[in-house]
Formats: sequence, C-alpha cells, structure tokens
Amino acid sequence: MRVLSGIQPSGDLHIGNYFGAIRQHVALQERYDETIYFCADYHSMTSTRDAAERRAFTRELAAGYLACGIDPARSVLYRQSDLPETCELAWLLGTVTSLGLLQRGHAYKDKVAKGEKADFGLFAYPVLMAADILQFASDVVPVGRDQKQHVEFARDIAQSFNHTYGEVLKLPEASILDDVAVVPGIDGEKMSKTYGNTIPLFGTDKQTKKAVMSIVTDSTPVEEPKKTDTPLFALWRLFASEDEREEMFARARAGGLGYGEVKKDLLARVLAYFGDIRARYAELTARPDDVEDVLREGARRARELAEPVFAAAREAAGVGPSR
Ligand code: TRP
Repeated sequence: MRVLSGIQPSGDLHIGNYFGAIRQHVALQERYDETIYFCADYHSMTSTRDAAERRAFTRELAAGYLACGIDPARSVLYRQSDLPETCELAWLLGTVTSLGLLQRGHAYKDKVAKGEKADFGLFAYPVLMAADILQFASDVVPVGRDQKQHVEFARDIAQSFNHTYGEVLKLPEASILDDVAVVPGIDGEKMSKTYGNTIPLFGTDKQTKKAVMSIVTDSTPVEEPKKTDTPLFALWRLFASEDEREEMFARARAGGLGYGEVKKDLLARVLAYFGDIRARYAELTARPDDVEDVLREGARRARELAEPVFAAAREAAGVGPSR
C-alpha cells in the first residue's frame, strides 16, 4: 500500500499543523511500507505571490517535516516543483475534467462567494492535486476533513481519464485523519495562520509563552467551577494523558482552579513536548544544504515511482511518439 500526502508551505508552522497533519504523517511510516510526502510549493502559488517567501517557506516545511520525524530512509520527501512532470499530467487530466466539477470545488466556490477575484490557478487547484495523487498510483491519501472533496475529485478525474483513454489510473481512497483533534487557536477559532491565532511549532520559548498566555478565557472567578469544553482545555488536553485529563477536569468542575495555573502548566508541557523537535529543527536550519540533499534524493525517488504512470498516461492519450 502506498500512502501520499502533501502540505502547502505557507510559513510559520504551528501546533495545529503538527496535530492536524504532520504527527499522523510521521506515524503512518510505521504502518505502511511506502510513504511519500511533499512540500506543495506549486499549490502555494494560488495563495501567496512572494517568490522569496515561497522558497524560504518550502525549505522550512521540509526541515520541519524532518525535525518532526519524517525519516528519509523510510519515506520519500520531495518538493513538488522538483517533479515538474506533475504539471504535464495535470494538463492531461484537465482536458477530461468538466467545468461543473471544478465549479463545485470549495476553495474556488468560497472565494467567489466572498466576492473575491479568483484565477485559473485556484480553479484548477483540484486538477493539480489529482495529478499529485494519481502519478504515484497512490492507495491512501491521508488528509484533513477539508481536503476530502479534493481526493474525491481525484477519483472522479481518474475515472474520466480511464473512461476516455483506457484503464491507466488507479483510484485513490481518502483516509480522513479522524484521530485529528480540531486544534483551536488562542482566540477559539480554528488555529490558522490566516487568523493570526497560532501557537508556533518552532517559535522561541518567549514567543510560545506569549501565545499560551493570550489564550482566551472567560471571567469565571478562581473559586467557581469551570467549563472544560473551552479552547484552553482543548489545547491543554493535547499534551495530557487520559488520567491526567480526568484529574484536571475534575479539579476544574470542582472550582478553585485558576486559568493562570492551567496556562502555566500548558506552557511547560508545550516546551517539554516540542523540546527535541525544536532542537532538531535548529540543527537542520543551520545546515540548509543537508535539507536540499534530502529533497534532491526525494525528487529522484519520486520520479522513479511516478515515471511508469507518466509514460502510461502519455501512451494512452497519444501524446509523444509511441513506445
Ligand atoms: N491541498 C492540500 C492542503 O492544502 C495540500 C496538497 C496538495 C495535497 N496536493 C496534495 C494533500 C495531494 C494530499 C495529496 O492541505
């Protein structure tokens, strides 16, 4: 079974990215013998247009993946744009993708609904993502709930291609990361760079402290019982065992537990939990050439894995000389 997933380099990785994707990607290395992960720099072009930022964010994402435990000996880790053949496959796929399907795409639909200007890149985003997935004949594509539609589109697009040119592409399954906690931001909204409500994955201790101490709480006095379905407790429990959680939540219900104490405890847990990961990240950012080496080797292996599908798709579609 072959597992594939990617993350867009949008800068400032936060603990929501970790608990929402990276941690599962790392764990899947144990469960499957072929895991492929990539930094989706082409996709990031649909949201950010700063070239220098993109390059830096892509490198940071790769270093982040490695620091969190993606092991190049077990996984292929590559930069999407190091395999430009994906764009050719996206073209082949785009020619059999209906407008109707793309108009249902939620990224595009949301933008239009907000009255913002959309462009071809955003409209075609699902086609490029289908190419990422189908080029490896991926079996399983672990994604968050928000990306499920895109994996379903990849299946539809593969079916359409196969229907038109013959059975070439394998239909992937979306595996929704169910054990993914919805990670709230410090203001209670979903944690996201766009909302500016993140706890940084690789920040300094000081930045981490600042974020943790600004988590929203209500004005319930210390003595009174506290509700536990709040952003503060949702974040805290990411770092606690079941037993610890029961004990802490019982104290909250009983009254006498102050939010300040919970925040201090959370900060200590965040720093301890990410201590080694942050140290590895610092080492990796000091050796950017090593990260590049990993990506280069990743691209070589990715190309090797994708080549048979590229060749079969071209052959079936009658593109280029016959083999
Ligand atoms: N669209 C995904 C996201 O924003 C990133 C992505 C691009 C991806 N191509 C992919 C994920 C292929 C899984 C498979 O999170």
